[in-house]
Amino acid sequence: MNTQNSYDTIQEIRSRMGSRLTIMGHHYQHETVIRHTELRGDSLELARKTSQVDAEHIVFCGVYFMGESSALLARHGQKIYLPEPDANCVMSQMAPAERVDRVLTALSGRGRRIVPLTYVNSSVAVKAVVGRHGGSVCTSANARTMLEWAFAQGDAVLFIPDKNLAANTADALQIPFEKRHILNIRQNGAAIDFDAADRADLLMWPGCCAIHARFNLRQIATMREAHPGCRIVVHPECSPDVVRQADAAGSTSFIIRYTEEAPEGSTVVVGTEINLVERLAAQYAGRKTVLPLLESACSHMNSVTEEKLAATLTAVENGTCAPVMVPLEMQDNARVALERMLQACA
Ligand code: 13P
Ligand code: SF4
Repeated sequence: MNTQNSYDTIQEIRSRMGSRLTIMGHHYQHETVIRHTELRGDSLELARKTSQVDAEHIVFCGVYFMGESSALLARHGQKIYLPEPDANCVMSQMAPAERVDRVLTALSGRGRRIVPLTYVNSSVAVKAVVGRHGGSVCTSANARTMLEWAFAQGDAVLFIPDKNLAANTADALQIPFEKRHILNIRQNGAAIDFDAADRADLLMWPGCCAIHARFNLRQIATMREAHPGCRIVVHPECSPDVVRQADAAGSTSFIIRYTEEAPEGSTVVVGTEINLVERLAAQYAGRKTVLPLLESACSHMNSVTEEKLAATLTAVENGTCAPVMVPLEMQDNARVALERMLQACA
């Protein structure tokens, strides 16, 4: 199917299915995909919006953990479909559920009440482990609130899997460096330095996003020199030194608002996935200059294409598309973890 055919197919199916269908999408989706979505957002907004959708069929343009979260929060009878079920998240893959469970159990066995807090960029299996251990979920938009929530529940927090979001949030809460510890999770937990872990309030899983790890201080210095007076905004998955040198950091929706609020004629340099930066650059062309700190693309987000969306909608309309299925034994614990977040951030 060529691009024009895919575009037409999507439009035709949308008008035939009407209110029985809603297409949602994350801000990192390519323009050719996002233009078909009725609902867009950062991870927190998309999780919240799912429970407000009435349509029976929800096609979610994003990576698998977003589809899983939507499936957990969907109403009875609603079905979630992913145009590319293999669209993963390299960061989420750095925290296998079995290892998270083992590490958490070992840390808790030392006598302190360790509250797990998982970034939403994690598998449903990890969310189920976290829910079972009394913990919750956070997104880039509410990490500060949720870290405070987690500290209020116990003696220490295990933040999974993003060490950068953990450290940036710890900076915002002014948690002293000597109270933070990045775990060595090698050898299935056998390599953990338990004495160092016992001294810390914030235990950090050593994961990160490869796409955001590409941004560095040299690029910031180069941009400030080439564009005096520019404003630099980055995603909090960037390393703490990059976040400290930027003018602002926040979720994808925060970055959109920041660019919107920047004065006419200004230059905004953005450190996040390139599809969002290019969309902002096109949106404000002639009024503001929007530049990427570096062109960094998430291959998984980009594996969702207009052609796949058209094929998925065709299968949904025919009744042959397999919806996202969350294993039964994980559903309750993973949902509880997500609901604790939605309640704490209502
Ligand atoms: P947001 O929740 O800020 O949209 O981020 C999701 C993500 O995957 C960033 O890499
Ligand atoms: Fe995962 Fe990074 Fe892609 Fe976001 S940009 S989905 S964190 S790999």
